[in-house]
Amino acid sequence: MEENSQILDDLYSIDLQAYLQLHGYHLIPPHSHQNEGYMTESQKEQFSGVLATYLDITSVLEIGLNGGHSAEHILRECKGIEKLVSIDLNHHKYTSVAVSYLSQKYKSFEFIEGNSQVIVPEYTSLFPTQKFDLIYIDGDHSYKGCSKDIENCKKLSHPGTRLWIDDYNLIGPNQAILGARIEGIIEVIAFHESSDSFGRRYWAEARYCGH
Ligand SMILES: C[S@@+](CC[C@H](N)C(=O)[O-])C[C@H]1O[C@@H](n2cnc3c(N)ncnc32)[C@H](O)[C@@H]1O
Repeated sequence: MEENSQILDDLYSIDLQAYLQLHGYHLIPPHSHQNEGYMTESQKEQFSGVLATYLDITSVLEIGLNGGHSAEHILRECKGIEKLVSIDLNHHKYTSVAVSYLSQKYKSFEFIEGNSQVIVPEYTSLFPTQKFDLIYIDGDHSYKGCSKDIENCKKLSHPGTRLWIDDYNLIGPNQAILGARIEGIIEVIAFHESSDSFGRRYWAEARYCGH
């Protein structure tokens, strides 16, 4: 019992980055050979700005947890979140450290290990009425993988769902977004771009058509 409250005290006094570091994972800078990449500070600010315009977000689906940076940022920014589900292959050792941190700190956080191309359809069958206010696709960056994620996640959307797709500067997501627009699956609201000393970041904000 005492040990548990000590762990919780530690969690509230340190942030995710420090927790990862305590466990031997120094994931700085955001893009390096040690990690798959996550938000830069300027992209984080941009996320905050856009999130502030979304009213009453209570549910978020993320594909691609990695070190948990974007998940924690969204959980911190949107105080009304009741459920944030994140899916990841969990092939990086630091991902389970992030899962341990986030699940102890946020009761709304849920992690599902596996390939989103399998997990999303399974999840949809298991929870046919579950819809998410925000769906953030940042997992498989191949054309096929990203296209499948966009397509499969539609069943988890409602008319007001915002869809974020990261890294549209990369050929896979870029072509997947283009294909989904041509097929009338999504409509792009904005292409966002940011830049700082860690580099440029690009992401698209969209909504699903046909609701
Ligand atoms: C760029 S990182 C995500 C960064 C994170 N969203 C952030 O900003 O903090 C991509 C993650 O997607 C995961 N991933 C790649 N392909 C996947 C798939 N098919 N299903 C689930 N996760 C996948 C990888 O394991 C990796 O952790």
